[in-house]
Amino acid sequence: MNYITLNNGVQMPQAGLGTFLIPKEEIERTVITAYDMGYRLFDTAWRYYNEADIAKALKSHGVNREDVFITTKLNIDALYFGGYKGGIKRLTNIPRRTIKGAIEESFKNLQTEYIDLFLVHFPFSVFMDMWKALESFYKEGRIRAIGVSSFLPPHIEALGDISDVVPAVNQIEVSPLNTQEQLVKYCQDRGIAVTAMSTFSHFRSNEPRKEIIDHLVIRKIAEAHGKSTVQVVLRWMIQRGIIVIPKTWKESRLRENISIYDFSLTGEEMQAISALDGGCFLNYNPYPAQRGLPAEYKRWEGFSDLSKYPDWYRDCPKWKRVLLG
Ligand SMILES: NC(=O)c1ccc[n+]([C@@H]2O[C@H](COP(=O)([O-])OP(=O)(O)OC[C@H]3O[C@@H](n4cnc5c(N)ncnc54)[C@H](OP(=O)(O)O)[C@@H]3O)[C@@H](O)[C@H]2O)c1
Repeated sequence: MNYITLNNGVQMPQAGLGTFLIPKEEIERTVITAYDMGYRLFDTAWRYYNEADIAKALKSHGVNREDVFITTKLNIDALYFGGYKGGIKRLTNIPRRTIKGAIEESFKNLQTEYIDLFLVHFPFSVFMDMWKALESFYKEGRIRAIGVSSFLPPHIEALGDISDVVPAVNQIEVSPLNTQEQLVKYCQDRGIAVTAMSTFSHFRSNEPRKEIIDHLVIRKIAEAHGKSTVQVVLRWMIQRGIIVIPKTWKESRLRENISIYDFSLTGEEMQAISALDGGCFLNYNPYPAQRGLPAEYKRWEGFSDLSKYPDWYRDCPKWKRVLLG
């Protein structure tokens, strides 16, 4: 396993397991199988409702806490979650928890004294308050590194006004159709490691993004290396210094997704994949997320033409959003 050194010296595995939407009945088995294959990074979130299942799997398998790196995330839904009614998740109008209470709940779910990496899940309207709360846990030594997800430069710069901690990680959507060259460079230039999420998925669903997995250019490169297209895309990100967390619960794919260190792509192949860029977020578009930003940061030039960016809430039918939670 390769490791990335974060800006505070913490070592983070460069490849791990994403766990969003792994079915409840599969999650424990998947975590154990992945651990036995060599996975050491597990990416979860309060919002995935599986933190406790992951903790249970690792404990029941006798895994030492320091042998795994756990990332979780602070979501605004955690403040408003009112339990289940008739099997359906219920969000209330008034907060049920404080931000600190929501962070503590992840500790409880994960049954752990410390969390390796805790992210603000999205630039929610209260992202600055969330950052300050995470910062206090970090300074107490209960969280080893703190970071953000789907943050654009103005969100990151706004944090600089209220905190002396630079995010260790920005977890963003990256794929061959959405290479995010500029944002990746912006982060890496500032010592902020990038984790790629949602590379192969379609919105918040288990449908794979066939436009990537079946892409002719990537298929040709894959054939030349005797690898799958997924492995080639993961390798393309690894060579860009990006951390990868593909999600699957299928055993052969789990193995495939970490077998990415025995080949490398040429400069030409790297460029051919990067040239597929469509220039905008496909799944998790943070451009409309400006509510919590101080006025000066709303004037960022990148916000000048929002029509370039499809919006999940606008484009995904409401019935599908309800089903996917
Ligand atoms: N911070 C955020 O806001 C955020 C948002 C989304 C995701 N994430 C994190 O990032 C992780 C990854 O993102 P994601 O789950 O959206 O998408 P993903 O892992 O990029 O893609 C998942 C899709 O790819 C398929 N797949 C995986 N490995 C494959 C292989 N070797 N061959 C063929 N198909 C393969 C999966 O199918 P099967 O499952 O059927 O194998 C599924 O359809 C998440 O699990 C989560 O931990 C974070």
